[in-house]
Amino acid sequence: MTSFLSFKKQYIALGMLVFIALFFFNTRPASIQCQVPQLEELPASVASTNSNLPTIYGITPTYARLAQKADLTRLSQTLMLVKNFHWIVIEDAENKTPLVANLLRDSGLKYTQLNIKTEKEKAKKAMASGVEQRNKALEWLRGHLRGLSEEERIGVVYFMDDDNTYALKVFEEMRKINKVGVWPVGIVGGMMVEMPIITNGKVSGFNALWKPFRPFPIDMAGFAVAANLFLEHPEAKFSRKVQSGFQESVILNYFVKKEDLEPLADNCTKVYVWHTRTQKPSISKAGKAMTYNHIEV
Ligand code: UGA
Ligand code: MN
Repeated sequence: MTSFLSFKKQYIALGMLVFIALFFFNTRPASIQCQVPQLEELPASVASTNSNLPTIYGITPTYARLAQKADLTRLSQTLMLVKNFHWIVIEDAENKTPLVANLLRDSGLKYTQLNIKTEKEKAKKAMASGVEQRNKALEWLRGHLRGLSEEERIGVVYFMDDDNTYALKVFEEMRKINKVGVWPVGIVGGMMVEMPIITNGKVSGFNALWKPFRPFPIDMAGFAVAANLFLEHPEAKFSRKVQSGFQESVILNYFVKKEDLEPLADNCTKVYVWHTRTQKPSISKAGKAMTYNHIEV
């Protein structure tokens, strides 16, 4: 009788162990699934490609200044969340810099680093920025697109300042473009929002206050262009010959008339990009005297 009892106890103990083990193995996978990916894993995992989506070629001129790394860091970390994105970064510099090279390499993004220095002799007051840099990017892009199959070539070109603020939705919108898509831009041209005016689903005008006589009175951040148009118009490029604020009109004139513009962002009723401008940091005399050349800021 006693041996029977102890035998039974052993069975109960064993049964409980099996129960606990089953419980543990059942719940474990669910808790693993909930884990947030480690930060260091992010860049490689987010710079993903999906062959069904058009590629977005973001063209960003950049130049050495106090907040350059901060601006490029913020922008690159937005871009890490955009699928099928290829970042073309053109330094306004004699040579490519380690700051930009390292930032691009560490981002895990698909990128191309170029450089061309703006000729200062030709520089005038109120001279447009990014002209030579964007033209260099377009030259590279044409070569790149020619090497792709027609299917692989499906893409969109977006001219992006390095200090603007981009909502992820603006990238979703531009993948719908056939030729040239447009949308509102926040905080630009002395207005809260500068935007195309839409009548019956077509662009009938613009609400711009700054140089409203421009053929296309919109900011660089307010449109994107189908990549194949740059092959169909190999002559299309930015120009030094126009007054400031006309670069957008110069490039768009190659491709479309106002009526052909495709209104996006809910018929141009949503703001998904802001023309923010980074304030020049003021470093005091005492601050300047304290040099930390071994630290990249
Ligand atoms: C506005 C537009 O948003 C720009 O796209 C346009 O190039 C510019 O006006 C212009 O036509 O001059 P804004 O904020 O005034 O922008 O210009 P920045 O952001 O100072 O410059 C535009 C881009 O060019 C930036 O990505 C900037 O890093 C780069 N840049 C600026 C250079 O590469 N070199 C410079 O000397 C200055
Ligand atoms: Mn800017």
